[in-house]
Amino acid sequence: PLKAANVPIFFIVGGPGSGKGTQCDKIVAKYGLTHLSSGDLLRDEVKSGSPRGAQLTAIMESGALVPLEVVLDLVKEAMLIAIEKGSKGFLIDGYPREVAQGQQFESEIQEAKLVLFFDVAEETLVKRLLGRAETSGRADDNIDTIKKRLHTFVTSTAPVVDYYESKGKLVRINAEGTVDDIFGVVVANLDKVTSKI
Ligand code: AP5
Repeated sequence: PLKAANVPIFFIVGGPGSGKGTQCDKIVAKYGLTHLSSGDLLRDEVKSGSPRGAQLTAIMESGALVPLEVVLDLVKEAMLIAIEKGSKGFLIDGYPREVAQGQQFESEIQEAKLVLFFDVAEETLVKRLLGRAETSGRADDNIDTIKKRLHTFVTSTAPVVDYYESKGKLVRINAEGTVDDIFGVVVANLDKVTSKI
């Protein structure tokens, strides 16, 4: 049923604190896509108290990636629910985080229309996440885990950027500016491809 749905899919990739969630809220308000954050889906699973969730806490608190089958199952379940409700397309944030996730998604669901990569220097990422740490309530917003999340980004997720660049699907966005300036660049890029939605 997911393959048959054939709705446009956009991936949002970027380091921890690169503004994925912030920009997704604005994109959804303008384009009406369904926003799925892999991090939020995983945190909801932990909160649900399920056996699957119980295995995730330690991994997420260590800043590592959870097994790719777990993420894909959660994404698929959320997509199916949204499609039943008439979703006209998806904005999938924080996914794929390793090349194998992207390949698995392509073979089991479909290719993404575009991949937006939010490019932000490491010092800025650390500053933003530490700024958020006091209020986020997230167990992984502390300096030790932030360092590990950055390491995971460099080793596992940076190759995802190269992968989609080689496929001609990547839009690299300098995401160091203000939220509104970055959104302007996002809109300019999405408008080129969303006229068909
Ligand atoms: P996830 O929840 O995806 O966290 P993350 O990638 O570390 O990113 P964040 O949600 O912390 O930041 P963001 O980029 O959304 O930035 P935000 O808009 O909040 O993943 C958490 C964990 O789950 C992972 O470590 C992993 O264990 C697991 N996981 C998730 N997906 C997975 C997958 N696919 N496979 C395997 N494991 C997975 O902004 C950050 C802060 O900066 C905010 O305070 C915001 O107000 C501020 N800000 C935003 N934009 C700007 C701006 N332009 N200028 C100034 N401040 C800004």
